[in-house]
Amino acid sequence: MARTVYVNGDYLPETEARVSIFDRGFLMADGVYEVTSVLDGKLIDFAGHAARLTRSLAELDMAAPVTMDELLTIHRELVARNGINEGMVYLQVTRGNPGDRDFAFPDPAKTPSTLVLFTQDKPGLAANPQAKIGLKVISIDDIRWGRRDIKTVQLLYPSMGKMMAKKAGVDDAWFVEDGFVTEGTSNNAYIVKGNRIITRNLGNEILHGITRAAVLRFAREAQMEVEERAFTLAEAATADEAFITSASAFVMPVVQIDGTAIGTGKPGPVASRLREIYLDEMRKAAV
Ligand code: PDD
Repeated sequence: MARTVYVNGDYLPETEARVSIFDRGFLMADGVYEVTSVLDGKLIDFAGHAARLTRSLAELDMAAPVTMDELLTIHRELVARNGINEGMVYLQVTRGNPGDRDFAFPDPAKTPSTLVLFTQDKPGLAANPQAKIGLKVISIDDIRWGRRDIKTVQLLYPSMGKMMAKKAGVDDAWFVEDGFVTEGTSNNAYIVKGNRIITRNLGNEILHGITRAAVLRFAREAQMEVEERAFTLAEAATADEAFITSASAFVMPVVQIDGTAIGTGKPGPVASRLREIYLDEMRKAAV
């Protein structure tokens, strides 16, 4: 059955949704996005995603096409219309269609931004069997631009990273810059040493993960120590555990980096516990 999607004020079958070939999202990757997960038919951490979207738009001097309250209504409407119990809502805002190709930004008074949302149905998202197996990753050079804190749709290099991982027979890649791990292709990266969780500090080098913020809060509440600092692959190789976080993977163990087993080579207790706490608490707070 065709999905119902949202484009600039209209709910349409996906086959009837249209965006101009002159849209700056298409021509210039001039757009930002958010992915919000859905569990039990409800949105996980919508407020966090709305706040980051507001920040991404402001950093790029792009107008918000609707209010965050309206955005919540659109998310809920799409979840209901498509009968999503577990899955994701993808949202994208671009600088719109100026009617031609030009490097200069168009006048926002004349060119409204484009707003597109669609759902992704993923039954079994929370019970993902991969969480019991863990992920294998390789490391690759981080050659992305310098404003990774803005969630732009420039995802070519992360896609290439995924393909490098696939070619190497593993699940994902961790980016390394100046000898330090920044993050995964589409997730934040962590190592665990005893009772300590170590993850890259916030800055322009990484995306400020919404899942990251919640997981670090839960870790502190559970009396774990949190160190927000850069770490190397050598340090990761001797860690007890490793894991990643994202809106779609939640907390997912990493059991191998560049062919080296991390800890026992199996998902560890800290990652497993944080996954459980995250899912429990976020289900309770879902809207
Ligand atoms: N990716 N770092 C990068 C580069 C990401 O693309 C993402 C999210 C994250 C985790 O952020 P959050 O916890 O807010 O999802 C970190 C989304 C899920 C995606 O592109 O599909």
